[in-house]
Amino acid sequence: MREELRRKAGEAWAFRTRVEREAARRFARLAAGIAAFDADSPVPALMRQAADDEYRHAALCADLSAVYGQPVGAAAEDAAIAPGSLGPRAAVLYEVVASCCITETESVATLTTLLAQPVEPRVERVLREIARDEVVHGRIGWAYLSMEASISDVSFLSPWIPAMLAGTVDEGLFAAAGADLESRELLRHGVLPHSLKRSIFIGTLEGVVFPGLEKFGISSQPARQWVEARNPGARSQLG
Ligand SMILES: [Fe+2]
Ligand SMILES: [Fe+2]
Repeated sequence: MREELRRKAGEAWAFRTRVEREAARRFARLAAGIAAFDADSPVPALMRQAADDEYRHAALCADLSAVYGQPVGAAAEDAAIAPGSLGPRAAVLYEVVASCCITETESVATLTTLLAQPVEPRVERVLREIARDEVVHGRIGWAYLSMEASISDVSFLSPWIPAMLAGTVDEGLFAAAGADLESRELLRHGVLPHSLKRSIFIGTLEGVVFPGLEKFGISSQPARQWVEARNPGARSQLG
C-alpha cells in the first residue's frame, strides 16, 4: 500500500476516533440535560446507552488508526453548541436535531455506501458494528423530535439548520481536493473519496434529512439556500 494512501486512511480513522469521543460526551451531556427538565423521559437511558456505543466506536476507530500508523490526537472540548438565546429544552432539541437527525443520518449514509464496496476485512468488521449502532442513534433523534413536535411548535429550528450543517461538515467539503483525497483506493480502507463524500452529504440532506424535518414543520428552505450557495450545481446534479 502506498505510503500516502496509508497516511490518508490513518488520518481519516484518527479523525473518526476524535468524532466518536466527542459524540460520546455529547450524548452523556444530553442525557443529563433531558433528565433535568423531564424526569420521567425514557430518552436519557437511551442516550447513555448511545454514549457507551460511541466510546466503543472510538476504541474500534483508534485501533484502525494505529493499524494505519497514525496517532489519534486529542478530541475537542465538549461544549453545548446551541445558540445562547434558546431556553434549556429548545437548546437540547437543537443539539439532538444537529447530532442525531443530521450527523447520525449522514453517518449511516456514509457507512452504507462504504459497505457496498469491497473493503478490507478488518475495516469491514468495524464499519458494520458502527453502522448497526448509528442507525439506532439516528432513530433516537427522529423519535425525540417527533415527541417534541407533538407538544410544541418546533418550526423555530428552521433558520438554525444552516448553522447545524456548518457544524457538521468542514467548509473544505465544498472545495476541490487533491488527487490523493480523490483516490478510489481509499474505499478499501473505509474512506470516501472527497467528491463522493460531498455528493453523499448533499444527497442525504435532499433525500432524507430535509424531508424528515419538513414532516415536523421545519422548513428546509434556509438550509437549501446554504447548500446552494456552497455548491451551485447541487440541484441540477441531483434533479
Ligand atoms: Fe459512533
Ligand atoms: Fe452515533
